[in-house]
Amino acid sequence: MLPICFWRCSTKKDCSEEGVDNSPETTVKPFLRWAGGKSWLLKNIDQFLPSEIQSYYEPFLGGGAIYFYIKQNHKIQGNIILSDKNRGLINCYIHVRDNIETVIEFLQRYKNEEDFYYQMRDLVPKSSIEKAARFIYLNRTSFNGIYRVNLKGVYNVPYGFKSCKVLSISEMGHILNRTLLHNQAALTISLRPWL
Ligand SMILES: C[S@@+](CC[C@H](N)C(=O)[O-])C[C@H]1O[C@@H](n2cnc3c(N)ncnc32)[C@H](O)[C@@H]1O
Repeated sequence: MLPICFWRCSTKKDCSEEGVDNSPETTVKPFLRWAGGKSWLLKNIDQFLPSEIQSYYEPFLGGGAIYFYIKQNHKIQGNIILSDKNRGLINCYIHVRDNIETVIEFLQRYKNEEDFYYQMRDLVPKSSIEKAARFIYLNRTSFNGIYRVNLKGVYNVPYGFKSCKVLSISEMGHILNRTLLHNQAALTISLRPWL
């Protein structure tokens, strides 16, 4: 049986994933694999950032590569507003922010095995926290971490046949602390209440 993950890591090397990542060794990387992630931009991003970051708004959060880098390498003084139109994704971030220990307990029960994967894929979770843990599990063990649902909204990505290496999730509760998380499409969200 392959373990799904180890749940702690503190260096980029430990968390190594597919794709190019130019963040410093000390930066904890995103815990989700997400198509179109912007890790490859990190090498050049500092020169474009203001010396003092006031409020931070990330309307297309996805795997959060840019946010996680900025949060760990710069000081954000004001509000942090993170949003995405993917409801399951935002539910996942909310529980990682608020209930990280319970999310990890769920994840540690899950096995990185093909039969178990398809049981999990068919499962309808009872609670939103279980939904969050299932979301992470499927993301880490599915084929290429693709997020794809059919017309009925049912997740239909096949098993990825990979051992998940290291998942940097323990620190995420802290990194997401004091973020405002919203499941909204970018064009409909109003920033007025927070800015
Ligand atoms: C490529 S990912 C974002 C990558 C991320 N910003 C990073 O730092 O790596 C794009 C995300 O935008 C979201 N998205 C696409 N259209 C959107 C819209 N109109 N409003 C909000 N989110 C949207 C998708 O659900 C997806 O999670």
